[in-house]
Amino acid sequence: MQKIIVEGGKKLEGDVHISGSKNAALPIIAASILNGGTSKLYNVPNIHDTQMMYKILEELGCIVKKTKNKVIIDSSKVNKYEIPENLMREMRSSVILAGAIIGKHHEAVFSYPGGCDIGTRPIDLHLKSFEKLGIIISKNYGNISCKCDTIENTKIDLDFPSVGATENIMLASCLGIGTTTITNAAREPEIIDLQNFLNRMGAKITGAGTNIIEIIGVKKLKDVSYNIMPDRIEAGTYLCATAATGGRIKALNIVPEHITPILNKLEEANCKLNIGKNFVELVAPRRLKAVNIKTMPYPGFPTDMQSIFVAMLTVAKGTSLVEENVFENRYKFTSELERMGAKITISGRTAIIEGTRRIHGTNIAATDLRGGMAMVIEALVAKKKTEIDNIHYILRGYENLDKKLTNLGAKISLKVGE
Ligand code: UD1
Repeated sequence: MQKIIVEGGKKLEGDVHISGSKNAALPIIAASILNGGTSKLYNVPNIHDTQMMYKILEELGCIVKKTKNKVIIDSSKVNKYEIPENLMREMRSSVILAGAIIGKHHEAVFSYPGGCDIGTRPIDLHLKSFEKLGIIISKNYGNISCKCDTIENTKIDLDFPSVGATENIMLASCLGIGTTTITNAAREPEIIDLQNFLNRMGAKITGAGTNIIEIIGVKKLKDVSYNIMPDRIEAGTYLCATAATGGRIKALNIVPEHITPILNKLEEANCKLNIGKNFVELVAPRRLKAVNIKTMPYPGFPTDMQSIFVAMLTVAKGTSLVEENVFENRYKFTSELERMGAKITISGRTAIIEGTRRIHGTNIAATDLRGGMAMVIEALVAKKKTEIDNIHYILRGYENLDKKLTNLGAKISLKVGE
């Protein structure tokens, strides 16, 4: 088992190059099934989750060639339509493969992704949408089988702007008959990236980035090359980690408009920002000021930044209120921060954080991807050494985490534990 070991107390200083977006890459890798041909993808983050997605594609019959951040997927020989249960359990987001497989092959079998450490995460909106598209769903001992003769595109109104359900509908409808209109669609930038990728392949999709998306079915899709957008959550993470340590940073290869709510809150916390076309420079104040945040679907404050902000605010001056409105159980990580001296009280969906300067290192264990990263930030500001266990959660989503933080002056290492 790997561990992260951090000697805290160093200010982060320097430049960091932000990787390609995990949440854009995953549905785009899944979408490579749709052309039954070749997809060349660039700026793909080399992280556990993308590796898992390749593994599933290979199980289905794809040929996947990867070199660092480039991957070539040949989906011309797909001959299986079932996502293996063990791989499905390992990565919840593999559910978006269902839309791509059924869209292309009119048949897909997968299992319930199961709960996870940030909530129950149902897939009812995905399944209801599939049924609207004329897909017949049968459930059998946790397995879900989907079948249809053709995908009948139609109007779908989502009860909640779910990112995954919006993507799954887009994937399933590209090669359908007629037009699908999604209302109350999710508006995240990753959905725009998926639209751009699919259109480059020959799909006819408009409206991504707004709450109405229209997909006009086409008969065939072609080979494609595509550059994945930068990871807005990774960008926000490095900015907050730097702010927490009182340092200065230039985050490169980002789209600043994607992180407007994050930048607004960092300014409110008294950070100085210089926002360029594709970079943001941040200079932290001597001490951060407490701020309040409420997570919301895009363009609101992202839930994936909630734990990162909580960690940062544990060392701010004053009391911050954080309200989590997207996932029902996203505060598990806070008990580990409390063991390090953070003063956090959870009341329902609200976290009350009383800033303190007394954070000290100890042995803790990651609970989920972003909660785990919050622990790394806490360790960076702590006195003395912190050892973090269960770091496979963190490595799911952060490329070269130890190298990037070391370059910024942190004392961090990955160690194989007993
Ligand atoms: C995606 C992101 C994740 C991010 C989340 C919200 C990926 C791979 N993951 O996850 O990092 O935190 O968006 O921005 O892109 N819901 C239902 N029924 C459904 C689907 C969702 O009730 O069928 C609920 C969820 O439980 C949750 C809320 O809707 O409370 C939002 O979920 P959703 O937007 O679907 O998140 P994901 O696509 O799973």
